[in-house]
Amino acid sequence: MVDLRSDTVTLPTAAMRRAMAEAEVGDDVYGEDPTVDALQRRAAQLLGKEAALFVPSGSMGNQASLRTHTRPGDVVLASENAHLLRYEAGAPAALWGVHVKTIGCDGRFDARDVRQAVPSSQDSHVAPTRVLAFENTHNFAGGRIFPLDALREAAATARELGLALHLDGARLFNAVVATGVPAAVWAEPFDTVSFCLSKGLGAPVGSLVCGSHAQIREVHRARKLLGGGMRQAGILAAAGLHALDHHIERLAIDHANAKRFADGLIALGLAVRPAPETNMVMFEVDDAAGFARGLRERALRVNPIAPGRFRAVTHLDVSAGDIEEALARIEDLLHELRSRRAD
Ligand SMILES: Cc1ncc(COP(=O)(O)O)c(C=O)c1O
Repeated sequence: MVDLRSDTVTLPTAAMRRAMAEAEVGDDVYGEDPTVDALQRRAAQLLGKEAALFVPSGSMGNQASLRTHTRPGDVVLASENAHLLRYEAGAPAALWGVHVKTIGCDGRFDARDVRQAVPSSQDSHVAPTRVLAFENTHNFAGGRIFPLDALREAAATARELGLALHLDGARLFNAVVATGVPAAVWAEPFDTVSFCLSKGLGAPVGSLVCGSHAQIREVHRARKLLGGGMRQAGILAAAGLHALDHHIERLAIDHANAKRFADGLIALGLAVRPAPETNMVMFEVDDAAGFARGLRERALRVNPIAPGRFRAVTHLDVSAGDIEEALARIEDLLHELRSRRAD
C-alpha cells in the first residue's frame, strides 16, 4: 500500500516511540508534567512568542484561539476554504456564535481585500469584525505558501483596523523549510499561532498554540472549556519534542517527492494545479469514478477533494521509491481507463 491521503497517516518511528516510553511525566492539568512544559517552552521559543500551550488537535488550537478573540455575533475573516471554516464541523458558529466571512481566493488575500471586507461603519446594524485568520501553508489550496510580503501587509492593515490576528500554521514548518524563512518571522505579526505536530512532523497527536502570556492564559481557559486538558500528556509531548528535533529539516524530502510526483503525473498527461510548493499535489482526472476504483485495486490511496480533483500528500512514511511505484501504478491505471474508453 502506498498511502498518499494525508501527512496525518504517519506512524511514530522506533526512536519516537522510545522517547515516548522514556518520557518523564506528571499531571499536566495540575501543571506538573515536565515534558509538556519542555515542549511548550520549545514551541514558544521556536515561534518567538512568550508562551505556548499543548492542545490535542489543530482544530482545538484554532477554535480555542478564536474563542479568545471573539464574542457571539462577531465576524472572523478567513481565507477561501480555510480549514477552520470548512473542516472543523461548523465550530465557529456552533461553539462561539461567530460567523466566518471568506476573503481573497485560493487561500490568499491582500491588504486591499482586508480593507474592503471590514465595514467602515460602527453602526449597530453591522456585526463587528474582530479577527483575521491566515492559513499557511494552505491545505485546500494545495499546500500553498502565503507570500511573506503580502502576509505582512495584510496583517498590518488588519491591525490598523483593530483586528486580532490568528495563524492556522498546521503546516507552518513546511513553509519554513520551503522558503528558509524562520518560524518566528512567519509568526511575528500574529496574536495566536497554532501549529501541528501530527502532520508533516510525524507525531501521533498534538498541536501548540503560541502567543503572549496573557493570550495563552485565555487559550488555556478555552482548552478547559473544550475538555482538552490532558493528564500524563508528557508521553505525547515527548513525541512532539522528538519531532521538532528530528523531523523539521527532512520536510525538504517530502517537498522533493511531491515535485517528482507532480512531474510524473504531468508526463502521464494529467493536469496538476497548482504547481506544488510544499508536500501536496492536486491533480485532475476525467473519469474520477474509474480512477478511484482503479486506485483501490492497485493499493494506492489519494483523497478525492472535489469532483474530478484529487489530492496526494507526501510524508515521513513515503520514500522516493514509493513515489516511483505510485507513478507506475497510475500509469497502468490510466492505460486501462484509456483503452476501455477506446473499446
Ligand atoms: C490547515 C489545517 N488546519 C487545521 C487542521 C486540523 O488539525 P486536526 O486534524 O489535528 O484537528 C488541519 C488538519 O488537516 C489542517 O490541514
